Amino acid sequence: MSGAKNAVLPAMAAALLADGPVEIVGAPRLRDIATFGKLLGILGATVTQDAGGTDRSRLLRVASGEPGEAEAPYDLVKTMRASVLVLGPLLARYGRARISLPGGCAIGPRPIDQHLKGLELLGARTTLSEGYIEAAADRLRGAPVYFDLKTVTGTENLMMAAALAEGTTVLKNAAREPEVCDLARLLRAMGADIEGEGTDEITVRGVRSLRGARHEVMADRIEAATLLLAGAITGGDVTALGADGGAMDAVLEKLQESGAEVEVANGFVRVRRAGPIRSVNMKTAPYPGFPTDVQAQFMAYMCLGDGFSIVSETIFENRFMHVAELRRMGGRIDVSGNTAAVKGVQGLSGAPLMATDLRASASLVLAGLAASGTTEVLRIYHLDRGYESLENKLSSLGADIARVRE
Ligand code: EPU
Repeated sequence: MSGAKNAVLPAMAAALLADGPVEIVGAPRLRDIATFGKLLGILGATVTQDAGGTDRSRLLRVASGEPGEAEAPYDLVKTMRASVLVLGPLLARYGRARISLPGGCAIGPRPIDQHLKGLELLGARTTLSEGYIEAAADRLRGAPVYFDLKTVTGTENLMMAAALAEGTTVLKNAAREPEVCDLARLLRAMGADIEGEGTDEITVRGVRSLRGARHEVMADRIEAATLLLAGAITGGDVTALGADGGAMDAVLEKLQESGAEVEVANGFVRVRRAGPIRSVNMKTAPYPGFPTDVQAQFMAYMCLGDGFSIVSETIFENRFMHVAELRRMGGRIDVSGNTAAVKGVQGLSGAPLMATDLRASASLVLAGLAASGTTEVLRIYHLDRGYESLENKLSSLGADIARVRE
C-alpha cells in the first residue's frame, strides 16, 4: 500500500509549525501532494521528494521558511480544498494568514465555518475580503472548542494551531479518523503535548516551539479498500500488504456481509470472493463508520449484487456523480436525495466514461474490471490526485488495464 494521501497533506502542513525540517517517509507521488507542495513553496517552505525508492521508503522533506505574504492564492485553493490546512499552522507560527475561501467543489459546498469558529475561539481575528479569509492573532490562546459537526481537516487545523498556543485547548466532538491520529503522532514527535486522539475529545497543551521530525506515514486505508473491492467485484483474491485491518473495520464488515471472505493479520488484509455477491445496505458516517471515500467504489460492487442495496451518503451533499456513469454501463440505480437504491444486475457492459472526481473515478475503474467488453475512463487526472499508479497495481493483480493517455 502507498502512504495515505489524507495523512501526508496534514503532515506537510504541520511542517510549517516546526523550526527544523519534517521528513515524511512513505509519501506517495500524487497530484494533490505536488499541488500542496507548490502551495507550501509559495508560503516560503522548501519541499523535496526523493525520485526513486519504493512507495514505502520514499522521503518527502518539508522545511518551513519565512512565508512573505502568508497567502494561499485562489488558483491553488480552488483545485484542492485541503489547502485550508495551512490556515492553523500559519496563524500559530507567524500570527497571520490570508487564504482564498474555497468555493464549492464537485462533491458539495464544503464550508469551513468550523475551522474559523475554532480559530476565533483561540483568539484569532478573521475577516472576509475579496474572496479571501484574512486571519491574524498575536499568540493564540488555548480554549475549549466544540465542533458542531465532525470535520476531519477542521480537527487537524485546530490541533496544529493549538500546539503552539498558550495554554490548553480541548477539542470536543473531534473527528476520530486514523489520519487525525497519524497527525497527532507526528506533532508529538515534534514536541507537542497532545492526548485523546482517536476519541472525540482531544486535549492539546500548547508549547513555545516545535522541532522537525521524521514521520512514517500510515498506510492508505482508502487505497487498500479500493484494491480489495477490485478483488471482490471480480470474484478474485487480493492481499493488501501493509494495510491496517484495524482502521478498516466498517468496510471489511460490509465485504464479509456481502459474501466475501476476509482475513486480517498483522501486516496485511486479504479478501476473497467465490460465491455470489449478496446485496447489502450501507450508510456512510464519520469514523469508525463506513468512509464516504469508499462509497462510490462500494456502489459499483453493489451493482452486481443479488438483490437490492440501499446506499446512503450522509457526509457530502453531492457525492453520487458516479451514478450516471454506472447507469451507462447497465447499473440499475435510483437516487432520491442522499439515498441510492441499487438493484443488482447479472452483468455490466463496458463503455466510455467520464471521471468526475477522485473516488468516483475509482468506482468506474472497478466497474470496468468486472464489465464485459472494454471500458474507457476519461479525465483520469482525477484518479492521479489520490492513487499512485493504480493501473500498475491492478495489472499486477491480473487486471487487463492500461493508461492510454494522460
Ligand atoms: N463541514 C462544514 N463546515 C466545516 C467543515 C466541514 O459544514 O467547517 C462539512 C462538510 O461540508 C462535509 C462534512 O462537514 O459535509 C465533513 O467534512 P470534513 O471537514 O470532515 O471533510 P474534509 O476535512 O474537507 C476530509 C478528506 C476527504 C474526506 C472527508 C470525510 C482530507 C484532505 N480530505 O475532507 O477526502 O472525504 O474528510 O472523511 O483529509 C478524498 O480523499 O477523496 C476526500 C475527499
